[in-house]
Amino acid sequence: MSVERAADGGQLIRIDVPVTVRTARVSEMRRLSELWGPAGKASRQRLLRRYFREQADGVQRGLVADFNGNPIGQLWVRLRHIDPSIEAGLRVAYVHTLVVMPEFRRLGVAEGLVRSASALAAARGCTHVSIGVDRPNEAARRLYAKWGFERYYESFDLRGDLVFMRREVFEAAVAAEVR
Ligand SMILES: CC(C)(COP(=O)(O)OP(=O)(O)OC[C@H]1O[C@@H](n2cnc3c(N)ncnc32)[C@H](O)[C@@H]1OP(=O)(O)O)[C@@H](O)C(=O)NCCC(=O)NCCS
Repeated sequence: MSVERAADGGQLIRIDVPVTVRTARVSEMRRLSELWGPAGKASRQRLLRRYFREQADGVQRGLVADFNGNPIGQLWVRLRHIDPSIEAGLRVAYVHTLVVMPEFRRLGVAEGLVRSASALAAARGCTHVSIGVDRPNEAARRLYAKWGFERYYESFDLRGDLVFMRREVFEAAVAAEVR
């Protein structure tokens, strides 16, 4: 922490708090569903309940960006039972449900989460990471392209209108091990 003179003559207190990536906890299900905002809260909680059951079975893992004990971002990475069209013959980990709280965007939090998911995938023997994006979400598609993801498959069904992008697991992992 440091204290400086602020532009308006007052005191500016700077607090340097790290953001760490860790495994999601069942006890924070409500807060994780709230990261998406108020709309569709009940259906998000239903989905999260299923995701946590699958986490207990080792099918997928929730990763949380933790700021001072509070989840400010999340993603889920499915490691088993992946749709063969998404696998497309490769050892793929499937990343989905990525969201960062608006106040913490454009700081590299999403990139840290995706790199941590990639490290987890590599540790489980996966060679590629795939991510599904709603077709209208052009900003997210541009972002993933910037991180080296390439479009390889598209689907239009009950899950929505999705574009799938993939890349090889990242070489340098930000988090070698996610607790
Ligand atoms: C998409 C989303 C997850 C990105 O989260 P994020 O934490 O802001 O992402 P990052 O900070 O890692 O990268 C985003 C941008 O910040 C920039 N950035 C990264 N670190 C930065 C830094 N230190 N300073 C300034 N900009 C930085 C990146 O270059 C990127 O820039 P761009 O938007 O101009 O291309 C977030 O916007 C979000 O939650 N959106 C709503 C939900 C959503 O669309 N999810 C995706 C579903 S597939």
